[in-house]
Amino acid sequence: MKKIAVLISDAGTGSNLQAMIDSIYAKKLAVQICVVISDSKEAIGIQRAKNARIPTYIFDSREEGLEILLQKKYPVDFIVLTGWKKIIPDSLITIFAGKIINIHPGLIPDTFDGFVLNPDQTSGLWNRGKFTKKALQNFLDQKATYAGSSVHFLSKTFDFGKVLGRCFEKIRSGDTVETLYKRLKVKEHTLLVDILKELSET
Ligand code: GRF
Repeated sequence: MKKIAVLISDAGTGSNLQAMIDSIYAKKLAVQICVVISDSKEAIGIQRAKNARIPTYIFDSREEGLEILLQKKYPVDFIVLTGWKKIIPDSLITIFAGKIINIHPGLIPDTFDGFVLNPDQTSGLWNRGKFTKKALQNFLDQKATYAGSSVHFLSKTFDFGKVLGRCFEKIRSGDTVETLYKRLKVKEHTLLVDILKELSET
C-alpha cells in the first residue's frame, strides 16, 4: 500500500484531508496516511488527523528539517499538499520528483503560456500566486463564469507543474467567497481522492 504524508496549514479547514480519511475508511482509497504535517498546531486538520489516529507533526519552518522528516522519519511514496503555505525547497522537489501533489484553487494550464477553457468555452483563471480565499475572491472580481481547481505535480516553477486533473464549479449570481468555496471544495474532494486512487494503483 502506498504511503503518503499530507501537509496542511491553518489557512484551510482540513476538508481535503478529511475527504481522504473518509475514503480510506470507506475502503474506496487504499493508501496509508503516515503523517499529517502542519506549520501551526491550530490547523483544524490537525484535530481531524488526531481523531483518525494519524500521527501529526508541527513543523517550525526549518527548511532542511522537512527533507529529513519526509525521508527518514516518515518515508513516504507521495507528499500531498492541501493548503500548505510555505515554499517547498527545490531540493525537496528534486528528491521527490513527480511525487509531490498539490491542489490549487485555480485553473493551471498544461503549458506555461497556455490557458484552460471553462465548460462554457470562456477562459479559465489560473490564479497564480493566489491562495485559498484570495483565489476565490479573484474569480468573483474578474467576473469569471466558472471557478476551478487543479491537482498537479509540484515543479520548481511556482504554482505550475504537470496537471493531473481539474474541476469546475459554475459561479452563481449572488455568490460570495464562502458560498462559492463551499461548492468548489466538494468538487476538490472528489478530484483529489480520484487522482490519489489512480496514483496508488500504479
Ligand atoms: C484548498 O482549497 C486548496 O485548493 C488550497 O487550499 C485549500 C485547502 O482547503 N490549496 P482544506 O483545508 O482542505 O479545506
